[in-house]
Amino acid sequence: MKSFIRIMALVLLTAMLLPMSACDSGRTSGKVETVKIGISLYRKDDTFVASLCTYLEKVAKQKEAESGKKIVVNMVDGQSSQALQNDQVDSFISQNYDVVCVNMVDRTAAAVIVDKAKAANIPVIFFNREPVEEDLRLWERAYYVGADAAESGRLQGQIIAEGFAKNRAEIDKNGDGKIQYVMLEGEQGHQDALLRTEYSIKAVTGAGIQVEKLANDTANWQRAQGSAKMTQWLAKFGSRIEVVFCNNDDMALGAIDALKDSKSKVHPVIVGVDATESGLNAIKDGSMFGTVFNDAQGQAKAIFDLSYALASGESQSSQLNIQSGHYIRIPYRAVTESNADEILSILKE
Ligand code: BGC
Ligand code: CA
Repeated sequence: MKSFIRIMALVLLTAMLLPMSACDSGRTSGKVETVKIGISLYRKDDTFVASLCTYLEKVAKQKEAESGKKIVVNMVDGQSSQALQNDQVDSFISQNYDVVCVNMVDRTAAAVIVDKAKAANIPVIFFNREPVEEDLRLWERAYYVGADAAESGRLQGQIIAEGFAKNRAEIDKNGDGKIQYVMLEGEQGHQDALLRTEYSIKAVTGAGIQVEKLANDTANWQRAQGSAKMTQWLAKFGSRIEVVFCNNDDMALGAIDALKDSKSKVHPVIVGVDATESGLNAIKDGSMFGTVFNDAQGQAKAIFDLSYALASGESQSSQLNIQSGHYIRIPYRAVTESNADEILSILKE
């Protein structure tokens, strides 16, 4: 009861503060004239998330021009605080947004948000940071748009396994038949950090190649932290490091920064995930061996199309390819020197 009163007070307050036009979501006329999509990001300075946002804004503008409807996309920064993100979601709900999209700060805390959305009957789309299945199943209008994290690990491992098969000496520098490696991991608890770490190595050992782990640690997806870790490892292991597995390209670029700064004569093979523009350029200049294309554009389009379909009540579910009622997963692709240019041109589309 107490919380009901609080919600009502919030609704009233918001209604008083807003100009009339902003309250008109067009739902009353039966035909949606305005589509309001609220998006809360775990942090907006994340390279991959930022590029996904750029694409989202682009598809929204295209759709606005083509549909003649007004499409409002409001993106807010959760600044790595789950409490702040919960408030942002409350605010979208009280302003009667048509859809709320959430890039969870803490992906294990999604149940709270599904409950809020369900109580207000506003569909919720999680993306990039995957809630546990149990939480998504709390409501049929809760969705996840992302990719199959294990697949990215597998593809990264295959790049190394294929490199080993083609030119063993380039990777196995000490010639002991094993790959000595270090692993730069993303944020602890993130599905992509856990599964990329696990499946990259499984793909290598599954191809019959032995490995020896020298070190692993988190660098929280960040270039500067990746560089700091790599500097320590270079001091400790030097030329023993044959492969640097990185859960994303930013950390791989950090490892490359460390190698350049140390002016070391050690040239381990470095692999990442994402295929950011800088990552692809590093492949082209030979400082990175390979990466895995994490299709920000494809994910942004799926988030937008699903939002639009849910908001306007248009049924497009067959086109959207929703799996098990809740999931849209965009495929990954392995990237090496041979297709880096092709992926670069996709990024620029
Ligand atoms: C990306 C990382 C990014 C993270 C943020 C991952 O899918 O590969 O680059 O930092 O998502 O949640
Ligand atoms: Ca070796």
